[in-house]
Amino acid sequence: MNKTVDQFLTLFSRSPDLIVASPGRINLIGEHTDYNLGYVLPAAIDKGFFFAFGRRDDLSCRIHALDLDDMCSFELTRFEKSDKNWVVLIQGVLDQCIRSNLMPAGFDCVFSSSIPIGSGLSSSTALDCGILKGMVALNDWQLDRWDLVNLSNRANNEYLGVQGGILDQFAIVFGKKDHSMLLDCRSRKYQYQSFTHDEIEWVVVDSGVRHNHLESGYNDRASECAQLVELVNRKYEEVKSLRDLTGHMLDDMAVKIPGALSRRGRFIISENQRVLDFVEAMKNADFQLMGALLKQSHLGLKNGYEVSCFEMDTLVSLADSHKDVYGARMVGGGFGGCIIILVKKRSTLDLIRMIEEKYERITGIRPNCFSISFGHGLRIIDKH
Ligand code: GLA
Repeated sequence: MNKTVDQFLTLFSRSPDLIVASPGRINLIGEHTDYNLGYVLPAAIDKGFFFAFGRRDDLSCRIHALDLDDMCSFELTRFEKSDKNWVVLIQGVLDQCIRSNLMPAGFDCVFSSSIPIGSGLSSSTALDCGILKGMVALNDWQLDRWDLVNLSNRANNEYLGVQGGILDQFAIVFGKKDHSMLLDCRSRKYQYQSFTHDEIEWVVVDSGVRHNHLESGYNDRASECAQLVELVNRKYEEVKSLRDLTGHMLDDMAVKIPGALSRRGRFIISENQRVLDFVEAMKNADFQLMGALLKQSHLGLKNGYEVSCFEMDTLVSLADSHKDVYGARMVGGGFGGCIIILVKKRSTLDLIRMIEEKYERITGIRPNCFSISFGHGLRIIDKH
């Protein structure tokens, strides 16, 4: 945080008015279920973005991305879509505010991050939620947490063109220290699940393979799910999303449903059930069962939903080969990014050493491994 504030002072010759922290997120289980109106189990993590904001009297914004050593400036009344990824993310959320009749005043901003962009920890949503929180606080807008989730989600869908669900926004905005959250994406009801156990640790490994959901197969999967709903709905009118799908319906309509669509549907049905089973296992501190569910989820993402890749499969197999690992799986949209591992705490260092050495030998990529804990959600650290 200090380096962000120092840079703000250097660049703008004044102190910031507002400091915001926006965390990354992990999803323990329930992948690709959000836009299918199923269950997810995310948590905010103790890593993410810091923003220093200063008000301006005009309608300009000047934003400095400290880690990229890059700067952008534009007028809020008219801006062209930038060709830089990080700027487009910010423009998307500002555009969404303006379309919703929320016209922000101009601002100066410096931000920095402890999570790499495109690594599957939802760095892009952490960036746009941080900007959004800054706009709300600087302009005294009366918005609740769901308003922030919806604004950021619409920015993602409309400005960026990614047909994403609400997993990332929800986790970042609603995150609570030492808790994960079971969310029903259809009813939007959620429950905090407290989870602190000294004998286990969550380790994240970044495969180093970067993805961009516009170019990955992410939107293809969302379209396939929509096609499957349409097909099944011809016979079963009650099916409005894959949340309503059952294995029996897929069996019954087997001749009419292409194999790939059927695999996507079966994955979603089983992944939703795994989320509920995982929550029970967490309540009972049944680490073996939690691990088994993580493994099943990864297999489903690899073979049924087909969103894994060689590097992530390699990381998961290496993790699973360690005697003190309960289970591991890829996290997020897929096609690169991170895996999460549940491991006995006493073996964390040994596990990391083994993965670093073997993964680099196999793929030529040095993986980034770190432990995480469940951290605070989006929040204001300081305001003048
Ligand atoms: C990305 C999307 C989320 C969700 C996950 C997969 O992170 O932004 O909405 O679909 O992929 O679970």
